[in-house]
Amino acid sequence: MKLLITGGAGFIGSNFIFFLRRTKPDWDLICVDKLTYAGNLGTLAPVMNDPHFTFIKADIADRTAIYGIFEQYKPDAVVNFAAESHVDRSIENPAIFLETNVMGTQVLLDACRKFGTARYHQVSTDEVYGDLPLDRPDLFFTEQTPIKTSSPYSASKASADLLCNAYHRTYGMPITISRCSNNYGPYQFPEKLIPLMIANCLADKPLPVYGDGLNIRDWLYVDDHCAAITLILEKGRIGEVYNIGGHNEVANIDIVRYILRALDKPESLITYVRDRKGHDRRYGIDPAFIHAELGWLPETRFADGIEKTIRWYLDNKSWWEEIVNGEYQNYYERMYGNR
Ligand SMILES: NC(=O)c1ccc[n+]([C@@H]2O[C@H](COP(=O)([O-])OP(=O)(O)OC[C@H]3O[C@@H](n4cnc5c(N)ncnc54)[C@H](O)[C@@H]3O)[C@@H](O)[C@H]2O)c1
Repeated sequence: MKLLITGGAGFIGSNFIFFLRRTKPDWDLICVDKLTYAGNLGTLAPVMNDPHFTFIKADIADRTAIYGIFEQYKPDAVVNFAAESHVDRSIENPAIFLETNVMGTQVLLDACRKFGTARYHQVSTDEVYGDLPLDRPDLFFTEQTPIKTSSPYSASKASADLLCNAYHRTYGMPITISRCSNNYGPYQFPEKLIPLMIANCLADKPLPVYGDGLNIRDWLYVDDHCAAITLILEKGRIGEVYNIGGHNEVANIDIVRYILRALDKPESLITYVRDRKGHDRRYGIDPAFIHAELGWLPETRFADGIEKTIRWYLDNKSWWEEIVNGEYQNYYERMYGNR
């Protein structure tokens, strides 16, 4: 298998590469990443000298570059992680989200079509379904839930999904789509909830919690997501959408309290800040379909996964401190400075 992975220098993409190195050592992996603010080539250091691994810096929306890569490497399959992924940034500047998440997906689909690639997998998100009310814990997102996006980020991801479906229907393209809930684990950029709170806690800085902190997310350890994508690639049905989640709903404020307790810091660090515009209240995935079809179930209990994650951030301070001390600082000021 020669697999082209886009966005492999980011959080989930890099974990996916490490997961495949452990579980599919004979697969050839070609990673294409633009190395935006969220991409960190240093993360991939452990595989850079691996003869089964190639890194190429390129923008998925750059048609000439992408066609050149397909021409040269002729991948058997593509997994597209590359995306602008932070909702807050999409509220600040939606345009780049459309360029990368929609136009970039179209370029990859066109390349697959042109070069006859046997499989294209789109990594999507449960955010395409919008949100669920807090007072209806009986409701969950299924693959049949209508698309109803709230943010420019989720709208761009939904557009990409629809494009994949259209290429399947119109051109018979061999696509699959997965829609996963919130991931956590090592190498997550410290603007996202869990690493942000760990980093602030360790620096005794205030922990900015949006609104009332009661928004619920369905947390999945990143390796479980990687296992699900691998299974879909190997055994998934062409043209299908698979929801991925582990029935692990936790309110944001409870995540923050968990981290405070684990790091032995006082709750007085919690600072409630103005809510995100259009903030989704609750995400809850029904993973019955992927379980029934492919036998996938998450393996990591939240208590174990969060402990591993906190331990990783403690043991790898240099990885995230470099980020926190760099350009990220300016962005951080803009987001939280006047809230
Ligand atoms: N993080 C989550 O909880 C979560 C949940 C469900 C789905 N997803 C999806 O999974 C994928 C990966 O998410 P993540 O959290 O790892 O994101 P991330 O922001 O950590 O990484 C994104 C990567 O894509 C690269 N990239 C951005 N624009 C690019 C472009 N134009 N060309 C090539 N590379 C580009 C970045 O450099 C970075 O390495 C995204 O598609 C996201 O929508 C994420």
